[in-house]
Amino acid sequence: PVESRVSDLLSRMSLSEKIGQMVQIDRSLASPDVLRDLAIGSVLNGGDSAPAPDSTPAMWADMIDGFQKAALSTRLGIPIFYGIDAVHGHNNVFGATVFPHNIGLGATGDVNLITRIGKATALEIRATGIPYTFAPCIAVCRDPRWGRCYESYSEDTNIVRRMAKIILGLQGAPPLNHTEGYPFVAGGGRRVMACAKHYTGDGGTKGGVNEYNTVANYTELVKVHIQPYRDALAMGVSTVMASYSSWNGAKMHTNPFLLTRVLKEEMSFQGFVISDWEGVDRVTSPPGSNYKDSLKAAINAGIDMVMIPFKYQRFITDLTDLVTTGQVPVSRIDDAVRRILRVKFIAGLFEQPMANRSLLGLVGQKRHRELAREAVRKSLVLLKNGKDKQMMLPLDKKAPRILVAGTHAHNIGYQCGGWTVTWQGSSGNITIGTTILEGIKNAVSKQTQVIFEEKPDKQFLDKNKDFSYAIVVVGELPYAETSGDSKDLTLALDGGETIKTVCAEIKCLVIIVSGRPVVIEPYMDVIEALVAAWLPGSEAGKGIADVIFGDYDFQGRLPRTWFRRVDQLPMNFGDPHYNPLYPLGFGLEMKLSSHTRARISSSSSSSSSSESFCHQLDLPSLINGLVDSGECVY
Ligand code: IFM
Repeated sequence: PVESRVSDLLSRMSLSEKIGQMVQIDRSLASPDVLRDLAIGSVLNGGDSAPAPDSTPAMWADMIDGFQKAALSTRLGIPIFYGIDAVHGHNNVFGATVFPHNIGLGATGDVNLITRIGKATALEIRATGIPYTFAPCIAVCRDPRWGRCYESYSEDTNIVRRMAKIILGLQGAPPLNHTEGYPFVAGGGRRVMACAKHYTGDGGTKGGVNEYNTVANYTELVKVHIQPYRDALAMGVSTVMASYSSWNGAKMHTNPFLLTRVLKEEMSFQGFVISDWEGVDRVTSPPGSNYKDSLKAAINAGIDMVMIPFKYQRFITDLTDLVTTGQVPVSRIDDAVRRILRVKFIAGLFEQPMANRSLLGLVGQKRHRELAREAVRKSLVLLKNGKDKQMMLPLDKKAPRILVAGTHAHNIGYQCGGWTVTWQGSSGNITIGTTILEGIKNAVSKQTQVIFEEKPDKQFLDKNKDFSYAIVVVGELPYAETSGDSKDLTLALDGGETIKTVCAEIKCLVIIVSGRPVVIEPYMDVIEALVAAWLPGSEAGKGIADVIFGDYDFQGRLPRTWFRRVDQLPMNFGDPHYNPLYPLGFGLEMKLSSHTRARISSSSSSSSSSESFCHQLDLPSLINGLVDSGECVY
């Protein structure tokens, strides 16, 4: 039984070995000597440590096995826990499948789909020897000016609660008879441990400012932001990341009430709490001032593992001193290490520390790419379709000549957004999927002439005429935490100008590629049809073409309110002066022929019933009715 193995190991550990387990360092520092000498417990794939352009999944497996070998050669041979931000697929590795970001998955509202995405992601991560992902983000983003809004499934807590079921796919469903008091699963070396983040209130900060302050009474905090954690825990999430943000002025990283009393005691969380990247340093301003005091407060508040990419020696010295002088009780250290070891045992790391190379062929495999394509199809939200009852969509595949325009039509980096290959995303064209332009070209008839001009001006349009219609693809540039906050939420690279120029002349479908609603109202008069595509990932081209040409219908519903003007923000459903451009839940369908409808419904029912790797579990009784009857979790 896991608990007796944990107790046995813990009883044989010295203080320095225990403190070593609480350290997570950046992979750039994780030399075999450092891992061995300090008995380091965890390594982090820092956002800046992007893979070399030619690195393959097998090279990743070799790298991680190298760390593992060093850890296994320590006195007690405790495997390291390598963690990565695989937040929409194994988005760090070339050749992996990149799924739509969370906002798009929120638009699908499809729990079956998201559990399958969780499993596919787990397989691709585990293939490269990684047992741990810092996902899912279960923030409830209340203000789209927040630069992490696309990592949130919705502004609506209930939608976030539903989509948190990705945990069942990442980790596997909790065992039916878990007798030891915790519901995590090993997943037979084919799943990964998940991390619900950022606990809590990260999406509620004033003005949508990253790492800022969430003002709410406790009842509101529970109702809006803590509820998804209850679900995540019931589904067995094994780790939780603390938020950089504050609650009513108090930093989350040093909050004993929320970390220990609420999360560990009231909600009975038995996994470990990890800090965010230098989250302990950031308790004070400037970061790192009074580090020892912050560390004492954070560990005593309930942080178990500290993500300290670089200054680990200071952490080890200070924590050792705090323990030997009685400022941090040994019992707290034992509790933290017990939680870490428990997760490592349940992750199956002691049995199978090395990469499972038999899974390598699954990275980026066709079945996963088809799953991502399905997710794209289901995430698209049709906001407008024609004027004066003349529908523009579905588009004619046999039109003689069409114009594709816009900065986001032919750029995989843009369509994937932040947290793709590098932390801040990639602006270049990375060869991992199909662009929207490529998807269109592949879908139309051989006779159709597709002209692509990224930023057509009046002169171009005067010279090039007779287009049946235009597809304009514009949006935001990639960003991640620290760079994504925006006060104006405008279209990047003069996207608004492109819309105005093209759509004034040609009948236009505008596709917005963005991590959140953006300012679009000024262009609505010239836009004939409008689709929100979110950040659709590597399979955007195919998934978008499937729908705009009518092989499938639109199914997505807005997972957040689409505002008219930024001076209306924050604006959420239920607000007293709710006057959005499009409300939460909005989404049109096309008028497809009955023949097409029959084909779509027969193909979707046959694909789900023939899903051989998807077995049904009696989940309602398993996790307190959180999962609707009949949902497929595999
Ligand atoms: O997991 C992330 C977190 O969401 C934000 N800060 C950095 C962490 C590790 O990269």
